[in-house]
Amino acid sequence: MSSTRMANWELTSRLGKFLDRHLVLTLLEFLSSNQIYDEKELLLGKLEMLKNTNMVDFAIDVYKKLYPDENLPTEFFENRQRVVAELKELEKLTEPVLAILVQDDVSQQIATTRDSRQLFDYLKMNHGLTSEMIDSLYKSAKFQYECGNYSGAAQYLSSHRLLVSQNDKNYLSNLWGKLASEILMQQWENALEDFNRLRDYIDNYQHFSALQLLQQRTWLIHWSLFIYFNHSQGRDMLIDMFLERKASYQKQQPYLNAVQTICPHIIRYLTTAVITHRRRREYMKELVKVIQQESYTYRDPITEFVECLCVNFDFDGAQKKLRECVDVFNNDFFLIALQDEFIENARLFVFEVFCQIHECISINMLADKLNMTPEEAERWIVNLIRQARLDAKIDSKLGHVVMGTQAVSPYQQLIEKTKAMSIRCQVLTMNIEKRLQTPERVAWAVNEF
Ligand SMILES: *[C@@H]1O[C@H](CO)[C@@H](O)[C@H](O)[C@H]1NC(C)=O
Ligand SMILES: *[C@@H]1O[C@H](CO)[C@@H](O)[C@H](O)[C@H]1NC(C)=O
Repeated sequence: MSSTRMANWELTSRLGKFLDRHLVLTLLEFLSSNQIYDEKELLLGKLEMLKNTNMVDFAIDVYKKLYPDENLPTEFFENRQRVVAELKELEKLTEPVLAILVQDDVSQQIATTRDSRQLFDYLKMNHGLTSEMIDSLYKSAKFQYECGNYSGAAQYLSSHRLLVSQNDKNYLSNLWGKLASEILMQQWENALEDFNRLRDYIDNYQHFSALQLLQQRTWLIHWSLFIYFNHSQGRDMLIDMFLERKASYQKQQPYLNAVQTICPHIIRYLTTAVITHRRRREYMKELVKVIQQESYTYRDPITEFVECLCVNFDFDGAQKKLRECVDVFNNDFFLIALQDEFIENARLFVFEVFCQIHECISINMLADKLNMTPEEAERWIVNLIRQARLDAKIDSKLGHVVMGTQAVSPYQQLIEKTKAMSIRCQVLTMNIEKRLQTPERVAWAVNEF
């Protein structure tokens, strides 16, 4: 997508490579509403997206907006006819399995049987269920989804999943489709459940090649942004997914690895989560490492803000970057609602770092910079100390904050450096592998644009 007005640090085209068409459409709607791109170009982009869906009427609307004085090309009518005919056909095919699923004994059986094989055998024996019928249920789900009927799709996919084993050819696509449907309906609790199910499946499936696994994870990371920036615990989960090392397999941080290998732009979201989150201090050090490792592949005012502050201790630079961040937030679908919270926390963070590198600060000076009374500033510092976010003592008589000093031993420094080097090597190896192989897509409703 080219733009007439340069939209700074706008990520839609990068994100879109790893999203389903319908999810891309929600991003395009956002861009239309905040007018950073030429509307005509956005409409062309939308039309292109819609071409490969069954949302014919939506496509017609867009076409009419683009070319108000022209007659509608016949292909739209042909398309509509095709969609209607296919819908009828699929309804006929799905009718028998739907009729089976609403029988009393069947719902009882579904409630008590955990095993899909057992359930299938029961339904085959007592109601003549066939695997073709089950496949038609999946096809109908996909079709409804392409029509934009996400609730219908979710309903069919839920039934379908009960009837197939994890080895079924459509099982993985089912999980992707259900996740997309729930996201598009903005059912965040359901979406989270589907996300966890999919993540479990991906992390434990034995038959992906290393590259497929990397691709599946990259897709999952992008789809999950919708949940992470809407669910109340979303940012907690985002930090856990990339930086937490508690679970044993997490020691290798496979999702962070995917970010560093394929999609470093995700660092923007990770950085925002860490800065707006109260547990940030614990993870900041590791995040800074990642930002530095990737600084040649990705940077924006948010990552540069952290670099200014935590690497260069350049406080004026940090303030300047913070002002640029406002632009980034305004143009980012996922972050726009977080702008105030981010700025507020980023300011606090600036002062925390300031306090950490100065041995002695006058409370009056601090109050001045914080735009607080000296009493308020003192209370603020006491709180930071109490929350163990600041190692300091207050000398009330002199009006000073006296910092504790934490020296890092040379041995510790060496360990840290070596660790960073081995991660770097891993990433390089992955990059080389990536270049040697052509990607193969396996996900639901894959799109290439
Ligand atoms: C959506 O799909 C469901 C299930 O197929 C169907 O019952 C419903 O009529 C559909 N809704 C629309 C608006 O097409
Ligand atoms: C979050 O959800 C609300 C409504 O549920 C919606 O208006 C908003 O666009 C969503 N934001 C994101 C980033 O998905």
